[in-house]
Amino acid sequence: MNKQTDNWLERKRPPVHSTAQVHLWRVDLSRHRAFLQEYARLLRPVEHKRAARFRPEDDRCRSMVGRGALRLLLAAYTGGNPRELELKTTPNGKPVLAEETPHAVRFNVSHSGDMVLCGFSREGDIGVDVEHIRTHTDYQKLTARFFSSVETDWLCALPESRRLRAFYELWVCKEAVIKALGGGLSVPLDSFSILFSSTGHGVRVKFNDEMTPVKMALCLLYPAADYPAAVACLKDTPLEPETYSLAIPDGKAFDET
Ligand SMILES: CC(C)(COP(=O)(O)OP(=O)(O)OC[C@H]1O[C@@H](n2cnc3c(N)ncnc32)[C@H](O)[C@@H]1OP(=O)(O)O)[C@@H](O)C(=O)NCCC(=O)NCCS
Repeated sequence: MNKQTDNWLERKRPPVHSTAQVHLWRVDLSRHRAFLQEYARLLRPVEHKRAARFRPEDDRCRSMVGRGALRLLLAAYTGGNPRELELKTTPNGKPVLAEETPHAVRFNVSHSGDMVLCGFSREGDIGVDVEHIRTHTDYQKLTARFFSSVETDWLCALPESRRLRAFYELWVCKEAVIKALGGGLSVPLDSFSILFSSTGHGVRVKFNDEMTPVKMALCLLYPAADYPAAVACLKDTPLEPETYSLAIPDGKAFDET
């Protein structure tokens, strides 16, 4: 089921009592960009260095605010200090907590346009993806290059007026699955297909035979209009994420850390 854009509860930190195993946080850069300096102070030198490589400035800002917000939230989930959290990357580039305990929270991040999306899971590895719909996207070319034949057939059967949005919805689902697996470019794009229910609301992933042991739950949602997003989680029960919007930090948010 698509979650609507208004179901994102504004909060400064995660709720203490929550039964949901997966939480999603949207960070609206058009509001949080003003706190760039505060977010930047939470970053490690290596994170500053990486952000400095981004051009244009918008990308640099997205990287810094995104990583700063991730540190703030991750610290709230783990009880640590945002500045002191140790992160590392897997050989395929997925950021994870340096100390992985069985109960540690798993996380994943995606950015596009004015949106950063952070996903946290207590259950299984998680992947998230968000994209800002750009109307001039050459989706036919990208479909031929990246999608499986099942996905291509599904897309081509839709009325043309619905195809651009459907293309993006497929894309974020596919990326979220790849990011949950953590494999990056090493995951063959035709090793699985995203299947939408006939009503267009339900979505699931079907792996080819060699990947059958993988149990993955998938959910499509909209953190904002024209920002389709997906979350995928390695688990064998339906995914019902709680969705939050990170509130503008007050002065204390960064001082307390
Ligand atoms: C690495 C990759 C997952 C990033 O996706 P993207 O859409 O360019 O960018 P996003 O903003 O969504 O995600 C970037 C974040 O993903 C995370 N990430 C990086 N490598 C990752 C991996 N192997 N697995 C999961 N997450 C990863 C990082 O947190 C990164 O943000 P950060 O650098 O600020 O920490 C993606 O480029 C990739 O490798 N895709 C391969 C599959 C493909 O070809 N897809 C196309 C059609 S479906």
